[in-house]
Amino acid sequence: MSAAVPKTFFLETFGCQMNAHDSEKVVGTLLGQGYLQVPTVEEAGLVLYNTCSIRDKAEQKVFHRLGDYKKLQKQGKQFGVLGCVAQQEGEKIFDRAPHVSLVCGSASYRKLPEMLVQIAAGNQRVTGLDDRETDECFETEFTARTNPHRGYITIIEGCDKFCSYCVVPYTRGKERSRTSDSVCGEARQMADRGYTEIQLLGQNVNSYKDPAGKMTFAELLTAVGEVPGIRRVRFTTSHPRDFGRDIVDAIDASAALCDHVHLPVQSGSDNVLNAMQRLYTRQQYLERIGWMKSAHRELSITTDVIVGFPGETESDFEQTLLLLKQVEFDAIFGFKYSPRPNTPSLSLENAIPDEEKSRRLRTLQEAQKAIQTSRHQRHVGRQVEVMVEGKNDVRGHWLGRTSQNKLIGFTVPDGSVPRVGSYVPVVTTVSFPNSLMGEMVL
Ligand code: 5AD
Ligand code: SF4
Repeated sequence: MSAAVPKTFFLETFGCQMNAHDSEKVVGTLLGQGYLQVPTVEEAGLVLYNTCSIRDKAEQKVFHRLGDYKKLQKQGKQFGVLGCVAQQEGEKIFDRAPHVSLVCGSASYRKLPEMLVQIAAGNQRVTGLDDRETDECFETEFTARTNPHRGYITIIEGCDKFCSYCVVPYTRGKERSRTSDSVCGEARQMADRGYTEIQLLGQNVNSYKDPAGKMTFAELLTAVGEVPGIRRVRFTTSHPRDFGRDIVDAIDASAALCDHVHLPVQSGSDNVLNAMQRLYTRQQYLERIGWMKSAHRELSITTDVIVGFPGETESDFEQTLLLLKQVEFDAIFGFKYSPRPNTPSLSLENAIPDEEKSRRLRTLQEAQKAIQTSRHQRHVGRQVEVMVEGKNDVRGHWLGRTSQNKLIGFTVPDGSVPRVGSYVPVVTTVSFPNSLMGEMVL
């Protein structure tokens, strides 16, 4: 390619918030190398997929995409697979999709600039596959954040928990935290650029250990909340085993820390928790819920549940349904167990048939819908602060999020046009299982 023609790339992201934020860093890195981002595969010289392999369906998506666009290689396009599928499948991807020339796991992104040089030179087999070797985090000054008001900061990468069903410890490498100084520095920089909401990210965000030994996770939350200009701090995802009471104390003490905790339980049965190697019991999980329920402000608590883990009996599943009723979560993300390559649970007996997994998932979601319907009714008549996200052009109302992370649609007084990214007071007038409606007040 001649120097006058800009190198172009297209990037599609699958999966979790960690991937979304990794992509913001990857985009920044590419822009820093003189690439131009384009909105379609057709316009791009380099086509990248940042992939997810947490469940089978997620993994299949990238191979479908690569299949769809195979013929475009003839036009000189280069293809790259990044993220969890890249790390998990490694060089096997070159066999399965020979038109791919870059395979790079997330633990190797810091080497991207060198890999891009090789790609630009026409190298057909460029790999970055660090597995669990690296001690480094992917920090870059080039992060290209897509939202100008709310932004992510990764505080810890990787995972050392090794739940028996999960690929993450293999795909994202070992646990490694950034120093609290560098996290707070990035938060200050973001505040200077006008950000008011920060979401701290980590696969197990609350397993955070400051390499400089200065701050605990709860202290880091407080410190980020104290950065001038920052009005909201969120954090995800927490692991129950490392969830200390000091986190709830920090939320109690700082209005900037949002009224929401996502604490995946996965199952309400001790037998299943044990087989999953989750490192806590139902009782210990409920103890943490108790701390949150006794917080000064009402906290929204959300969770993840896996149904149909090998050996999960009907009575184990009922324990999960009971737990939902006991805790009254504000939302749950339910998943059918998906066997993953190289994970210990692959060798477990008593697999649950897919039909039965589907039935349990439906039952779980119906039970939760009833809980959410009644929990959301309690919001009617309350006034909350809402961060404005935009306008629903079809329905004509505005959209925003509460500190509890609830989506709320709202009407505004005649003549007023709220600024996207601003905070406005809204009184809830109607509730639905998954959202709220309200009226902005002056
Ligand atoms: N099968 C089904 N769900 C899974 N999750 C992680 N691994 C699997 C798997 N093998 C779910 C867990 C986790 C969420 C991000 O994805 O509930 O909390
Ligand atoms: Fe996966 Fe468990 Fe680590 Fe979460 S804690 S990323 S579920 S191994």
